[in-house]
Parts: sequence; C-alpha cells; structure tokens
Amino acid sequence: MPIEIKNSSSQPLQIDSGGRLLHFLAIEGLDRQRLLQLLDSAAQFISSDTNVRKSQGSLLAGHTVVNLFFEDSTRTRTTFEIAGKRLGASVINLNTSRLSTRKGETVLDTVRTLEAMDADIFVVRDNSSGTAHLIARHVPPHVHIINAGDGRHAHPTQAMLDMFTIRAHKGDISKLRFAIVGDILHSRVARSQIAALQILGAKEIRVVAPATLLPTEIERLGVTALTDIDKGLEGVDVIMMLRLQLERMEGQLIPSSQEYFRCYGLNQDRLNRAAPDAVVMHPGPMNRGLEIASDVADSDRSLVLSQVTNGIAVRMAVLYLVNGGNADEMNA
Ligand code: CP
Repeated sequence: MPIEIKNSSSQPLQIDSGGRLLHFLAIEGLDRQRLLQLLDSAAQFISSDTNVRKSQGSLLAGHTVVNLFFEDSTRTRTTFEIAGKRLGASVINLNTSRLSTRKGETVLDTVRTLEAMDADIFVVRDNSSGTAHLIARHVPPHVHIINAGDGRHAHPTQAMLDMFTIRAHKGDISKLRFAIVGDILHSRVARSQIAALQILGAKEIRVVAPATLLPTEIERLGVTALTDIDKGLEGVDVIMMLRLQLERMEGQLIPSSQEYFRCYGLNQDRLNRAAPDAVVMHPGPMNRGLEIASDVADSDRSLVLSQVTNGIAVRMAVLYLVNGGNADEMNA
C-alpha cells in the first residue's frame, strides 16, 4: 500500500474543545502557532550550553508514561524514557514480545488494563497505520496518546525534533530549500516532515527517489518530485536523508544495494551540489554505504547526533503539553 496522499486531519482527536493538545498523533491538523509553541516549549528544556536540561522533576510528578512499542526502536523509545524521567514521571517500558497481546488480548484491552494501573500517557509505536489514532478514540479524557510511529503513516515527534534541529542550526525555516531523499514510498518520517515543513512555510520542498520509491501522486502534497538526485540537491540548504526500509518492501523495488548507493547514496560529490553551508540530516537508523557515505554521516555538516539529543527536549515538550502543561507559562 503506498504512502497515504490524502490530507487527513487528526485535529478533532488531538485538540480538545478548549483548544488544548490532548493527544499527539500527526502533524496534519495542527497549525503553525501550535508547532511554534511546541518548538518554543522544547527550547525551554535546553540549557545554555545546548545540552538538554537534566531535570524538570516536578512537571510530570505522579504521572505514569508507558512506552508501548510493538516495533523496534533505539532513539524514540529511549529518548521518551529519558524525557519522561527528566519530567519526574514514572516510565514503564513494556517488552511487547512478553505481553498478553500474544495470547489474543486486543491492544485496546491492553491499554485499558494499564489504565487500571493508573497509566495516563501512552507512547505507541506499531507497524499498522492508525494504531495510535484507534487507541486515542477509545481512551477517557485524562489519558493521552502519543504516536511514536505508525506503519507508513506518521512519525510526528521525529518531524518536530527535525524542525527544532533545523531552526537551531539554520534559523528561519521559511527561508530554506529542502531535499528529502530516499525511500519516500514507505516513509512515515517523510510524510510528517513534509506536513511540518509546509505548515512552517518552507521556501521549497523537493522529494528525490527512484520512480519505484516515489508515491505516484506525491506532488499533490505541494512538493516537487525528482528522480535525478544531482538535480534534486542543487542549491538546497537542508538534505534530509531517509532509510531504505527493506522490511516494508513488497517485491524488488531497487536493483541492488550497490546500485542504489551508486545512484542515490549521499556522498561528498553530491553534497557539493547543495548550498555551501548545507546541512545533512537522517532520522536514523542509518545504513552506511547504502543511503549515506560514512564520511558524510560523520562530517561536520551532519546533524544526525544533534537530532538525537534534541529529541529529548522535543519529547519532554510533547509529554508536558499533552498532559495539560501551559505553553504560554513556559514560554513567558
Ligand atoms: N528515527 C527513529 O524513529 O529511530 P528509532 O527507530 O531508533 O526509534
């Protein structure tokens, strides 16, 4: 199934009648002010030496965050755990291979069971599109759901930590040209990045991939689709590489790993086509020598580890805001 092109709105589920962020499920349906508020709130969790502040221990004291990851994760799960702990929450990481879902219990019954133990924020990753939305539709108002990646649909906290990192390193997003390069077809990250960049008014968004990895109607999202990476990178300020998601591919969509790297891998020569001060991003995990050359990934133009660090602050802000935190008080 290709990336969903239709612009779905998650607003009725995400925002309550008083305008507060109740769940964080997708970028779509949020407005510019909400995204800026989230970025500004995350900035409050960064200390002056740019390390994420070690503790804001009272903001989520007495609350329980459950990391419910039915798919593998290193960055997202761990940074949510650190974020929750720095806000003073109890954080529970469930080993989903040991859960009673394997005995036939539904994910909704699993969530209700954990709610009965006073869990009140669930961070959910699943390989099916829509799982976090489904749970959000069935929980009481005091329970909050954060989408940590659902199938090919959305990865909104990744997009926001990317926006945070771009703003920190390159300034005003509306003045910048972007190239998102790689496996667009299977990428929930690309979909959320495109939505966030559009809401924040990016000057230009290009998506670059072989034709087999480009959704046919992607340009309806307001981006320019290119199959020639050299043209795609010409003059851009930010290159956002994507992982080749071999585990989600049905059939042979690339000739071979070597051929893919030769035609679409980001190497130093290709990086030279971008603006002289262009930066390189990758959500991770990276496949070195497949979508990105090691010398580029490790160069001073690479923001990959900055993205990881900023993920803690952005996830602290998301946890704080969905739990009823007041962005205006924080940003005052
Ligand atoms: N970017 C990202 O979602 O990484 P993880 O799969 O390690 O969480």
